[in-house]
Amino acid sequence: MSAGSTMNVIMDVDTGVDDAMALAMAVASPEIDLVGVTTVAGNVSLVQATSNTLRVLDYLEASRIPVYRGMSRPLSRDHFDAVHFHGTDGLGGAPIPVSHRSQEPMTAPEFIVQTARESNGDLNLVCVGPLTNLAVALSLEPDLPRLVSRLVIMGGAFTVAGNATPWAEFNIAVDPEAARIVADSDLNATWIGLDVTHQTSLYRDEWDKITDDSGPAGTLVREVCRYSFTERGDQNMHLHDPLAVGVLLQPGLVTSEAGPVMVDTSLSSSAGMARLIRSEGGQNSAEVALSVRSTEFRSLFGGLLGVPIHDHESG
Ligand code: BDR
Ligand code: CA
Repeated sequence: MSAGSTMNVIMDVDTGVDDAMALAMAVASPEIDLVGVTTVAGNVSLVQATSNTLRVLDYLEASRIPVYRGMSRPLSRDHFDAVHFHGTDGLGGAPIPVSHRSQEPMTAPEFIVQTARESNGDLNLVCVGPLTNLAVALSLEPDLPRLVSRLVIMGGAFTVAGNATPWAEFNIAVDPEAARIVADSDLNATWIGLDVTHQTSLYRDEWDKITDDSGPAGTLVREVCRYSFTERGDQNMHLHDPLAVGVLLQPGLVTSEAGPVMVDTSLSSSAGMARLIRSEGGQNSAEVALSVRSTEFRSLFGGLLGVPIHDHESG
């Protein structure tokens, strides 16, 4: 990217709390032209994820950004959600007004394919939910890897324990078959897993200091995190999905290892486990992030969103 230019970006979201903060980062970044947002069943149902996405974009004064509704369930399994973590509405009950606009008539996979075809290789994807929409888009347009410049995925637990099961991270656990289709494709992917997102948090003392005059992004962060910090009593909130946006903006925030990614699609308890296969060069090679410059990322996050960031150990 040359100085002063912007990246065309589609974000694929299952809008819960951290998706909302990731959207806020993309909207706030002068380097990102968010050409559309696509939704998928994940943290909450597809209908709720779409409603939340519209609400969040309107709150961020970004009603110009179109929203496309995608797949309502994983490719071949029953959907399970994460409302136990994100609250029944997915946004921790934050008082964000209902949007009066609707999603666009086109489906999410069709929008991804159409935009990729029109963008002459100048399209970036940030996928922070289950990968169902992208798997369907690959089926609609097998040439998608050639048409997409970069893909950043929040998903996987490569060297650490999972959060949906001991082996699997939530986004991959919900739709392992979709993740496998994406991993087996030639998309130029960087995987941002729990290995690095568990090193990047917003802390309660920082959240406490968000003031009323911090603008829509700051107050959005304050409201969507309230449930976690006050009801649940958490001391930190992992910035899973925001880190994916951070890595799109600044790839050097993470150190990665290259190699194909293998996703377990068995019917056993290890389904959704993602592993980096080392020492096999030459085939659909991805980048898997294994360490992160947490302080730099947290500064980027705080600077874009108007959130005060203090010195903290990583975690
Ligand atoms: C991922 O799962 C979801 O609950 C979050 O939004 C994030 O995308 C973290 O495992
Ligand atoms: Ca998400």
